[in-house]
Amino acid sequence: MTQRLLITGANRGIGLEMTRQAAARGDQVTATCRQPDEAEALTELAAAHSGNIRIIAMDVGSAESVATAAKCNGGFENGLDLVVANAGQLNARGGLNDPGHTEANIAESLMTNVAGVFFTARYFVPFLRTGKPGRTANSPGKFAVISSQMGSSTRAGTNAPIYRASKAAATNLARSLALELAPDGIAVGAWHPGWVQTDMGGAEAAITPQASADGLLARFDALTMDSSGIFETWDGEKMPF
Ligand SMILES: NC(=O)c1ccc[n+]([C@@H]2O[C@H](COP(=O)([O-])OP(=O)(O)OC[C@H]3O[C@@H](n4cnc5c(N)ncnc54)[C@H](OP(=O)(O)O)[C@@H]3O)[C@@H](O)[C@H]2O)c1
Repeated sequence: MTQRLLITGANRGIGLEMTRQAAARGDQVTATCRQPDEAEALTELAAAHSGNIRIIAMDVGSAESVATAAKCNGGFENGLDLVVANAGQLNARGGLNDPGHTEANIAESLMTNVAGVFFTARYFVPFLRTGKPGRTANSPGKFAVISSQMGSSTRAGTNAPIYRASKAAATNLARSLALELAPDGIAVGAWHPGWVQTDMGGAEAAITPQASADGLLARFDALTMDSSGIFETWDGEKMPF
């Protein structure tokens, strides 16, 4: 069945690949990114899938930008079935003394990885509510948070503490949203997408964006009200919190 998706950070990496695969299977995708004018790969993809992909500008770290995107041309009055909060930043990979841990980088990481999930939910959940009359446990609206195993407190590590903390918070937000949105028939989950060959993951990473996106889309399809609140990997393994 055709789904209506919104994906943040869709101009490169895992977000671009999720957009490609969702559009290829016939879904209607709203692909959001900070700089549509510079999003060449996404623009080419949209041209190749005439009508299935629309691109809108959205900086998830700005409440104003997200609110504006939610009202953008045509709007979302026909609703959405799935919102994927994918946009993320990893600005410093070392420990306490990594000079990359500047105030500006920390602020940007937290505003993107934590507040960005919150703003995306605040302004787009209303379209999940109204998207399909009579949403049921078998047909919930869905909100997916792309978190990371680095946010698992059980798997704490010695590097990138700000990124780890931000992803722990993103997973925690997913748990809170799962509770808050349960009465509306909206299921929420958090996912570790794998260690993926993107700008963030690097060329040495374990899996391709294609494998990650393929697994994630299947896991979003599998999400139900009964499994709402899960934290799992792109290939369906449970992640410890
Ligand atoms: N790659 C991995 O191994 C890995 C592992 C675990 C978790 N993750 C998570 O998976 C998600 C996607 O990662 P990726 O590997 O695809 O990373 P990526 O290649 O670095 O892409 C990150 C995407 O997020 C966007 N973004 C960053 N800040 C934004 C903001 N404030 N507003 C809107 N968009 C913003 C970027 O847009 P610009 O082009 O404008 O910067 C880009 O589209 C992230 O949440 C990341 O933390 C990745």
